Amino acid sequence: MRLTIIGTGYVGLVTGACFAEVGHRVICVDNDAAKVKVLQEGGIPIYEPGLEEMVKQNVEAGRLSFTTSTAEGVEKSEVIFIAVPTPPLADGAVDLSFIEKVARDIASAMTSYKIVVDKSTVPVKTGDNVAETIKRYNKAHVDFDVVSNPEFLREGFAVEDLMHPDRVVIGVRSQRPVAAMKEVYAPFNAPIIVTDINSAELIKHASNSFLALKISYINAISVVCEATGANVQEVANGMGMDERIGRRFLDASLGFGGSCFPKDLSAFIKIAEQVGCQFGLLKEVQQINSRQMDRFLKKISDTLWVLKDKTIGVLGLAFKQNTDDVRMSPAIELCQRLQKEGVRLRVHDPKAIEKARAVLQDVTFVEDMDAVAEGCDALVVATEWEQFKKLDLERARKALTHPILFDGRNLFDPAEMERMGFIYKSIGR
Ligand code: UDX
Repeated sequence: MRLTIIGTGYVGLVTGACFAEVGHRVICVDNDAAKVKVLQEGGIPIYEPGLEEMVKQNVEAGRLSFTTSTAEGVEKSEVIFIAVPTPPLADGAVDLSFIEKVARDIASAMTSYKIVVDKSTVPVKTGDNVAETIKRYNKAHVDFDVVSNPEFLREGFAVEDLMHPDRVVIGVRSQRPVAAMKEVYAPFNAPIIVTDINSAELIKHASNSFLALKISYINAISVVCEATGANVQEVANGMGMDERIGRRFLDASLGFGGSCFPKDLSAFIKIAEQVGCQFGLLKEVQQINSRQMDRFLKKISDTLWVLKDKTIGVLGLAFKQNTDDVRMSPAIELCQRLQKEGVRLRVHDPKAIEKARAVLQDVTFVEDMDAVAEGCDALVVATEWEQFKKLDLERARKALTHPILFDGRNLFDPAEMERMGFIYKSIGR
């Protein structure tokens, strides 16, 4: 099929590459000419495992192309996906101006029947507004359908999640676009749920909020574990064996971050409020998350006593493993709050150093993870990168002025760390 994706951010670019990978002919549109140029020349603006090779192969095979022209994308495809950002406004609500602009651009370019599919995370009822906007701005008065098709990919696992989705959600107002949408997704062999647009839009927000709630739940349990001598990982393992609960997203941490959970939670609370529903439960999810960071920082200051003029090594800057994304990263917040206390920082991340340079000033970036501890008073693990488990602990112990390690991601075994002579503080253990 011929498909167009408008917006080449995480969602748009990975979606475009995966659609091409399964045999569709895909045009990716972005209004950022510099970005399009990079993509046309074989560059990738983000780090995502497997993406670079996939884009390269599909460009070479002639199935994937990039342009700045929405009109071209609209003209050449019957199905047009919208995958533009929906950033937060100051009050937590969602800025839908990019979606609205794209809807107008599509409308102006439409001269025959089109299926306009929203992939961005949007408030319930956005589909209605998109449909109304297209109707208003399409001078040719051609037929069209609006579909909601939320994306559930995780950064760092985006290609894998897109190629093997748990489910594909298709929200429609009539049966007309269903066959085409099923054809788009047929190669992925995933369960498809066809529903109304409002429900499809809500599935996305309800899912993300539930996952954030799951993390905050285990983080709240970690506080009780610390107060009682229980081990949060043992508790999570035992809980997770109940199939109704499941083990995933039960890893206690210094809090969740990223460009989705914090923003989507605020948005969902606002959306609920606007229709007269108070969602206190989700406000508590947010509060548990910020308390988790406060508690972690307190652990550091309680142990080091005076923070001013101490040097701390931080492993991890990305908001989670396998990504170079530092947006709303708990690791960055941690660094900035330590700096406010007068701490000097030596920091490392396997992929995010370049992006972190834009948000962190006056820190020493260290390329080699094993060299971070040199001259430090303590070491902190802030991101759950798998390779940190292979840190040369013996070297770190010798390099630190005192062998103190704060583990915000529970990567190491407390008994083993103690045996090696570390003062080791983790989460809920
Ligand atoms: C999330 C959703 O998972 C995805 O379905 C949606 O499309 C976009 O939002 P993403 O933000 O990429 O994806 O990352 P995710 O893997 O969900 O992690 C979010 C944050 O939660 C990270 O900071 C991560 O470190 C943290 N986390 C995750 C925990 O602290 N504990 C866990 O058990 C899981």
